[in-house]
This record gives sequence, structure tokens and C-alpha cells, in this order.
Amino acid sequence: MTTTEEHRRAVSAEYDRRAPTYDNEMHVALADAVAAFCDVDGALERRDAVVDVATGTALALRALARRLAERGRVLQATGCDLSTGMLDVARRETAGIAALRAELVLADAADLPLPDGSADLVTCVTALHLFADSGAALREWARVLAPTGVVVTATFAAFGGPGNPHDFPTRHDDFRTPELVADAAREAGLHLTRHQHVDLPGGSLALIAELART
Ligand SMILES: C[S@@+](CC[C@H](N)C(=O)[O-])C[C@H]1O[C@@H](n2cnc3c(N)ncnc32)[C@H](O)[C@@H]1O
Repeated sequence: MTTTEEHRRAVSAEYDRRAPTYDNEMHVALADAVAAFCDVDGALERRDAVVDVATGTALALRALARRLAERGRVLQATGCDLSTGMLDVARRETAGIAALRAELVLADAADLPLPDGSADLVTCVTALHLFADSGAALREWARVLAPTGVVVTATFAAFGGPGNPHDFPTRHDDFRTPELVADAAREAGLHLTRHQHVDLPGGSLALIAELART
């Protein structure tokens, strides 16, 4: 039985190790799909403050910024992660992007350094399964969410291969279907508003879900 702190240490150590080689075709494709989902009907232009939780190398923020850049707009965002290695790559990869003003901070998904009601869009791409307490994270996102804001999550509905082995327990099964994501969100005062399945390079199937205040 590991404590929450031991779990967090194991997660950040693993992603520190993986950071230099993390970006691959599958993760880039998923980030692009999440950005397109967030931007339905040009919605991104109305999301003034974006928070990417467990941002990793900031692939989602980079994909969101690419969409806004095409329209001459700039994305204002905060990205948070537990892994300094991932954040180092995120800082390096975002440094030259004119359409992205991102503050990249070391912070837990369940303890964001943001005021109540300050975020128009909270994204979390393939990280819910890693959290020791995903309920606490979802409640925290509901706290920082503006009244008309939305949370967008991406989880794995199915895997094309064996996936990466981890040194800590993961909880993919809790977020495999829209119903399971909706159940988890309900306890945080959020409800599922729409979802989409996306085929990824390598054969995995992602589930992208949008959650709003109940
Ligand atoms: C599979 S990667 C996903 C990274 C990025 N969202 C993407 O889609 O490319 C998972 C990330 O979650 C971060 N992470 C895991 N648990 C976390 C927590 N409790 N708080 C913040 N970040 C966390 C890890 O450090 C890692 O960077």
C-alpha cells in the first residue's frame, strides 16, 4: 500500500525519466484531436483563460495555440505538472511560439495555484488514470472553472498494444467509457455535455469528453 506522497513521487520520477522521448506520433495526434474538439464552432476564441492540467510537454497547449495562430489570436494559458523534467521540455518547446503565452508551473492536479472561477477551459489529456485521488482533482477543476467554462478530458477507451509499464498503480478502467467519466464528474458537480471517440496511431482509441457545471 503506497501513500499519496509516495505515489506522486513515483509518478514524477517516471515522467522525469520519459520526458526527453515523450513526444510521439500518438500523443501529438491526440493533442490535435483535443484541440479540434475544444474549438468546435470557434469556441476557443471565447476561452480567454485556459488551464492544461498534467500538461506534460505542453502538447495540448501547443495544439490549441496552432489553431488560434491561424486566426491571428494568442492563447493565454497555465500548464501545470508534477514532473520538472516534463515541464523543462514544455518550456523549451513553447518558448518560440508567438501565439502562446503560457505559464508552466509545478503543481498537483488537485491543488491548482489559481483563483476560484478563473478558468474558461480546463484540459486534462491522458492523466486522470495517474492521479491518486481523481475525485479531488475533478473538484479542484470545478472550483477554478468560470460559470460558463468547460473541462475537457481525454482518456483511453481501448489500447492498441500493451502500453507503457508503470512503477505505480493506474486506473484506466475508471475512465474507459462516457458513462464512467460522467459518474466521476457528477461527484464534482460537473456533467457530461458531449464526447467523441478518436482512433489514434498505434491502434488505441481515445475518449474525449466535455464537462460543464451541473
Ligand atoms: C501521459 S502524460 C500526459 C501529458 C500531456 N497531458 C499529454 O497529453 O501529452 C501524464 C502527465 O501527467 C502528469 N501528472 C501525473 N500525476 C499528476 C498530478 N497529480 N498532478 C499534476 N501532474 C500529474 C505526469 O507528470 C505527466 O506529465
